[in-house]
Amino acid sequence: MNRIALVTGANKGLGLETARQLAQEGVKVLMASRNKERGLEATKGLKDEGLDVEFVQLEVTNQAEIDALVNHIDTTFGKLDVLVNNAGIMHGGEPTGVNTAEIVKAEVLKETFDVNFFGLVNLTQKLLPLLKKSESARIINVSSILGSNTVQSDESSPWSGIKPFAYNASKSALNSFTVHLAAALRDTNIKVNSAHPGWVKTDLGGKNAPLEAPEGAETSVLLASIKETDYTGKFIHKGEEVAW
Ligand SMILES: NC(=O)c1ccc[n+]([C@@H]2O[C@H](COP(=O)([O-])OP(=O)(O)OC[C@H]3O[C@@H](n4cnc5c(N)ncnc54)[C@H](OP(=O)(O)O)[C@@H]3O)[C@@H](O)[C@H]2O)c1
Repeated sequence: MNRIALVTGANKGLGLETARQLAQEGVKVLMASRNKERGLEATKGLKDEGLDVEFVQLEVTNQAEIDALVNHIDTTFGKLDVLVNNAGIMHGGEPTGVNTAEIVKAEVLKETFDVNFFGLVNLTQKLLPLLKKSESARIINVSSILGSNTVQSDESSPWSGIKPFAYNASKSALNSFTVHLAAALRDTNIKVNSAHPGWVKTDLGGKNAPLEAPEGAETSVLLASIKETDYTGKFIHKGEEVAW
């Protein structure tokens, strides 16, 4: 059987491009979207390119949808080889300054963590039994250099001027999940890594970003195909380590 991948938030941006590149490598890709119409449209686009993809419904904070998806993957494929935790949100970042640590509203923090952290952790835990059935499974947590505390505390870094606290803290927490889960799974067939895609032109990244989606998706695609002898528990951008 082909390798099976699940990409969350696959209807647009980096998720859509990651799905495309994985499918181009011969992986069967389950394209998760929270909106059925947008998800079916994105899936049709890749099918029209001759790629082996399938739409699946998933709002990452919805327990019933997670359970239904896990059941679908189990009964249809009996395993999962690649999980790309790509879905993510950022409420108004800089330069508006409305979400700095000084003034960010509790509801913005909560909503951001619900999607970028709690939903992702819950989904990953529910999929672990299926990932353990793969000969060599890969979990890619799509993070951001903005979540690097090393970078954020270095005033000489250009990234340290970008401080939407809820988003950055949610990615720091996600990075912690990567380190801890990789350690917990060290003796298994599953490798867990965080990816920094770069600053990419998408709805989230904005139009001033220097990278296009195909280049931005490269890091997740690379981490999906690392070998047994390669690393786990790392923070990677284009094959190079990023400081936590
Ligand atoms: N673009 C950048 O420069 C950049 C840099 C570093 C890291 N990242 C990370 O890369 C990932 C993808 O971002 P992007 O730039 O491609 O952003 P994007 O174009 O805004 O796409 C985000 C995707 O996540 C989905 N999503 C959001 N909340 C969701 C939820 N609760 N349940 C399920 N799906 C949900 C969106 O669905 P809808 O279409 O329904 O909203 C969309 O498919 C994110 O984790 C982001 O933090 C991006």
